[in-house]
Amino acid sequence: MFVLVGSLRPIELGICVPTTYGYPNRPDCPDGSRRPANRFFFDTLEHPRALQGTWVHSTPLRDPSGSSGVWRCVCGKAEVILKGATLADGRPIAVYQTGWPDLHVHASTYSSARICVEILRWAQCATPPDGHQAGKRITMQPDFVLIRNEVKTPNFDGRSRLDGLLFAGVPAMNSLESILLFCERPAVQGHLHRLERKMGEAEFPVVKQHFCSSSKTLMYGYTFPAVVKVGSAHAGAGKMKIMDHRQMSDFRSVLEMMPDEHCMVEPFIESQGDLRIQKIGTHYRAFKRIGLSGDWKTNTCTSVMDEIECTQRYRRWADAAAEMFGGLDILTVDAIIEADTGKELILEVNGTSSGLHPDKAQEDNGFIKDLLLEKMNAALCRTG
Ligand SMILES: Nc1ncnc2c1ncn2[C@@H]1O[C@H](COP(=O)(O)OP(=O)(O)O)[C@@H](O)[C@H]1O
Ligand SMILES: [Mg+2]
Repeated sequence: MFVLVGSLRPIELGICVPTTYGYPNRPDCPDGSRRPANRFFFDTLEHPRALQGTWVHSTPLRDPSGSSGVWRCVCGKAEVILKGATLADGRPIAVYQTGWPDLHVHASTYSSARICVEILRWAQCATPPDGHQAGKRITMQPDFVLIRNEVKTPNFDGRSRLDGLLFAGVPAMNSLESILLFCERPAVQGHLHRLERKMGEAEFPVVKQHFCSSSKTLMYGYTFPAVVKVGSAHAGAGKMKIMDHRQMSDFRSVLEMMPDEHCMVEPFIESQGDLRIQKIGTHYRAFKRIGLSGDWKTNTCTSVMDEIECTQRYRRWADAAAEMFGGLDILTVDAIIEADTGKELILEVNGTSSGLHPDKAQEDNGFIKDLLLEKMNAALCRTG
């Protein structure tokens, strides 16, 4: 059987977006509250904050209802975008959707089962496949995994589950190896700096950065204001603007309380906005995001995000980044535009957890579906 794991959140699937563009009871609103009906409320789209996940799982053989030859899936709304989809050999796909905290992985080379995933709870937006009741835990064997969220967040570290999938060698999109490396921001940034050295600063300009493994090595003497980025958190978490060396000294004393966290420091760039270049397979998009509320992080405040032309230069950025860690199927490149000069500097690359623009989500989910089927066919169907 196949499984795709991941977090295709309803918004990304273009399914739960009402015409007002509100976000009713989004699973990633901790209090279940409504987001304002503001299409430009993009903070939540930067990265899935919740650990909701979508497991798309198509299973041929181990059908709990006993009827072999039926492919079932673990999924939530992902079953909607994959509705009616079959593998090249005609087998249907079943989708199971859950989140990292709500699953356990058992994998063994002693048994022919290789891997069992216990799903404790379905994703809030999920409709369990036929034969399964919401609220009931189940065990299934994933054949393929689609991951669309962060494995590690400030509140939860799902790497032990990811390790289980890696141990079992389950095919996935993006690759499990790339997802593991994306848990560590310095690994990603290091790769970007290598790309800059290879392609040249004019072609692939990356913001200057200083890495320190702990507060003990935080000896930053470059320009102020500066931005500190603690650990590998996403969606604006763990980031602070530091005005001068006195504030840096205070910050160092706070960092001392987090002995296991590394930190990166970079110059604060007064900007006219952010850029986001998105690549899903062979489909590219570029967006410009401008903050409206005066916060320096445009991904945690109210902002306007418009699609702009994806130039050849932006495509080259995305193509270069797509070569990372053995290849990325889904990625976004985040850059910042310097206010005075208009100079564009790459800040980071996001992998499979990249959120989608609500206006484009339906089309982009279609691209994700096509890519997914391509990967599943390659991994699971015999050719010739
Ligand atoms: N060096 C910087 N100078 C000015 N603004 C920055 C800088 N680094 C990040 N930002 C702002 O903070 C946001 C989040 O930073 P980013 O590095 O993309 O991390 P993440 O999205 O993972 O939290 C960016 O979108 C940008 O608006
Ligand atoms: Mg970002």
